[in-house]
Amino acid sequence: MNTKTIAVLTSGGDAPGMNAAVRAVVRTAISSGMKVLGVRRGYNGLLHGDFMEMNLRSVSDIIQDGGTTLFTARSPEFTTPEGLQKAVNVCQTFQINGVVVIGGDGSFKGARSLSQAGIPCIGIPGTIDNDIASSDYTIGFDTAMNTAVDMIDRLRDTTESHDRCSVVEVMGRRCGDIAMMTGIAVGATAILVPELPFDFEKDIIERMHFTRKTGKRHFVIIVAEGVGKVAELAQEIEKRTGIETRATVLGHVQRGGRPTLRDRVVGSQMGYYAVQLLNKEKSNRVVVMKNGKIVDYDITEALEMKKQFNKELYDIALTISI
Ligand code: F6P
Repeated sequence: MNTKTIAVLTSGGDAPGMNAAVRAVVRTAISSGMKVLGVRRGYNGLLHGDFMEMNLRSVSDIIQDGGTTLFTARSPEFTTPEGLQKAVNVCQTFQINGVVVIGGDGSFKGARSLSQAGIPCIGIPGTIDNDIASSDYTIGFDTAMNTAVDMIDRLRDTTESHDRCSVVEVMGRRCGDIAMMTGIAVGATAILVPELPFDFEKDIIERMHFTRKTGKRHFVIIVAEGVGKVAELAQEIEKRTGIETRATVLGHVQRGGRPTLRDRVVGSQMGYYAVQLLNKEKSNRVVVMKNGKIVDYDITEALEMKKQFNKELYDIALTISI
């Protein structure tokens, strides 16, 4: 009989597919004889003992839901030494000997501190941005990209009807993956990402002039949130080209909605894998996807990795979107 009690929490920005991961953690752990506590509102819930005991039915009918049924939060208190100690005390009181943390790099730093303080933790990458260097994929990315593509397709209808230019901001503060992938999928004339500097004349105006000469009359420019200033860009483009230009910020709509098949499946795989690690007495590990396989790394090693921007794919996008 497995006597472990584990806790599961979601932390940082929510992402579609987090529920699939929570469901997999709960059911895998219960099947191995563990007791599972669902923690409400991330590390805040851990600090205040805001738990609910989970059973197999607690996670019924959630795999298809966006957001996170455990709620999420950012917890400044947990990042202080006192906050950490308080969380450790709560874990000891509830005899928690394993925590699964679903979130981004900031959440993994918390998991590392907790592991170092003696509470074994496993991280699962859940963020729409795909900005975790150690993993080829983060839960929520696929749904967010598909939502963005759907929205931009709608925008294209009106952009095309008016012979206009649309400058669209998609999410991604530090990472241009959503911008690049949606840019390819909607045939954007220009894609601006935080990883690469851009030249207004060369990367936007010249490309618009070139395609205009070939007969193109409407344009979509995708801008990652980290590049920003879409309203100013739209004004500049209109001034330089004479083409009526509108700016649209897609915003948090990209974080919601029913998770795609991919996010449900990857969430399920990672949740299952995380519990296997706790079963093997592992701590301070992050579950990642590498070359299509689920593997795990030490959290410190994972946090030190640098994410490589896929320049090859970016160049393909620019070559064919003319
Ligand atoms: O979830 C990631 C992300 O969507 C980023 O792209 C964005 O910068 C950030 O979260 C905004 O999050 P919030 O509004 O919750 O602070």
